[in-house]
Amino acid sequence: MKQKEITIRNLKDEDLPQIKNLLYDTWIKKDYGENERVANEISSIFMYELLYRQSFSNVAVYKEKVVGIILGRINKHYKLKNNIIYIIKLILHCLKTILLKDGIKALKSEKETAKVNNELLNSLSTDTDGELILFALNRNIKGRGLGSKLLNSFYNYMKENNADKFYLFTDTTCDYGFYEHNGFKRESSKNIYFKKEPQTYFIYTKKLT
Ligand SMILES: CC(C)(COP(=O)(O)OP(=O)(O)OC[C@H]1O[C@@H](n2cnc3c(N)ncnc32)[C@H](O)[C@@H]1OP(=O)(O)O)[C@@H](O)C(=O)NCCC(=O)NCCS
Repeated sequence: MKQKEITIRNLKDEDLPQIKNLLYDTWIKKDYGENERVANEISSIFMYELLYRQSFSNVAVYKEKVVGIILGRINKHYKLKNNIIYIIKLILHCLKTILLKDGIKALKSEKETAKVNNELLNSLSTDTDGELILFALNRNIKGRGLGSKLLNSFYNYMKENNADKFYLFTDTTCDYGFYEHNGFKRESSKNIYFKKEPQTYFIYTKKLT
């Protein structure tokens, strides 16, 4: 696969099933894989929860298949009304999950995650202009510079709109070494014990100028 065979373009609605699969493979399978119906619903909930917070969404496409995604937000550009459809879908999938065996347990775990992230965000001592919400590639395409290309598209969006500093949440189930290697600042961390395995959650920031 050559870099020039990969296109970066805006996310389209028809990409969403592929994004959901990417999220399932990268994160959800590890925690909920033994309960297929819960895993399926949590993948949708995870996806819509990320989508409703974004004002920027790009995907990397290879041979018409989505192989990577980046979602971000500049706070001053964000309009909740643009993402209302994602909120409605999020609520619908939460309701469907409640009806499943172990669904409430899964939702509680996701709620705990959100609570920890909120604590990390509240611990930030400086203001930020936005957030890097989601950054993930298909596992077969990692380590070939595509992540940097997608991230640059987010940097360009920030710069074109005079936004400078952003934060991101990550954890020990992610390739957070990428952020260490690429000059992001780890602001704080928290150990958690409510998932299958103990994990550490982090908040990083990056200033572009
Ligand atoms: C994080 C991710 C998007 C990076 O994309 P990528 O295409 O593999 O990264 P690149 O090839 O562009 O790497 C750019 C640089 O970062 C380094 N790097 C990449 N992954 C790294 C890692 N896990 N740890 C340390 N350094 C890393 C590369 O060696 C390269 O260094 P160089 O510029 O000095 O040569 C990709 O690994 C991924 O999708 N991971 C799974 C999802 C995930 O964990 N997302 C991020 C956290 S929420």
